Amino acid sequence: MPRNLIAIRHLHREEISELLESAADFKDRVTGNKPIPSIGKKVVGMLFFENSTRTRVSFEQAAHYLGLKTANFSSSGSSMSKGETLKDTILTLRYERLEGLVMRHKASGSATLAARYFGGPVLNAGDGQHEHPTQALADAMTIMERRGSLDGLTVAIVGDVEHSRVARSNAWLLSKMGAEVRFVGPRTLVPIPQHIGMLPGEVFHDLHAGIGGADVIICLRLQKERMQEGMLSSIGEYARLYQINRETLKYAKSDCLVMHPGPINRGVELDDAAADSDRSTIHMQIENGIFVRMAALNWVFGSDEDRSPKSVDKPKSAKAKKEVTA
Ligand code: CP
Repeated sequence: MPRNLIAIRHLHREEISELLESAADFKDRVTGNKPIPSIGKKVVGMLFFENSTRTRVSFEQAAHYLGLKTANFSSSGSSMSKGETLKDTILTLRYERLEGLVMRHKASGSATLAARYFGGPVLNAGDGQHEHPTQALADAMTIMERRGSLDGLTVAIVGDVEHSRVARSNAWLLSKMGAEVRFVGPRTLVPIPQHIGMLPGEVFHDLHAGIGGADVIICLRLQKERMQEGMLSSIGEYARLYQINRETLKYAKSDCLVMHPGPINRGVELDDAAADSDRSTIHMQIENGIFVRMAALNWVFGSDEDRSPKSVDKPKSAKAKKEVTA
């Protein structure tokens, strides 16, 4: 059975730890210009049916470091623009002999559908409002680098939780790893009980209470493209009540980290002072995105000894000749 990475919700704590340890090891190898184990001459489809900068480029970089080839694919230049369904497109790519898929799509559940019809490893690069597992891994890796552990931290996820796959993946990961999760925002974007009632975390509609004593604040982008009319009275009103800035940060711990998965709306979810301060981890999250995606690609293509990063340090075998250097 191929391994897929569809949702953090499906992973055990041990699997999350394994992925994070592997990502740290890949980071050490890439930044230290040390040997990196190659996954071999596999071709991975990069299917981005929704726009992306960070996820797309970091998966490309990850594949490059691992010696994989990529085949890029978007709906506008494909037969999907002639009416081909997602199912038939996935089946076509299977019989084009692609060996793995990275997919972003606007529909929640699309990654599960792709895994069903593709038959090989599928990595979810964000499916609708469902999950964005590699973003949560990049965020967790960043918090661990700055705080040492996730266990016992209080993490406030602030903003448009309702439409956020990042919030869902982060909530599952953080709670599985021992952090206390809070969801903070207006009633329309952080509703009770509906979908959010299924997520591990406490709901706050008051920013002061929600980020009070927090170790980490994860700001979320207002996803206007997914909002129904009337969900927000105005952007200005949202910023006045929920923006993370010099003043509102006083409610949190003095060394509280300010995170944002991007893309950010400067002056809305957070101001320049918060985005560009020493507390901000936005650039670390982007860079760590490469290493968690290396770990994710390595993980789905197999867990045998020859593919674990540490195996590069073992005595030479025939497969060790496949090593590549960053
Ligand atoms: N965080 C994130 O998914 O960014 P992109 O949409 O640029 O990939």
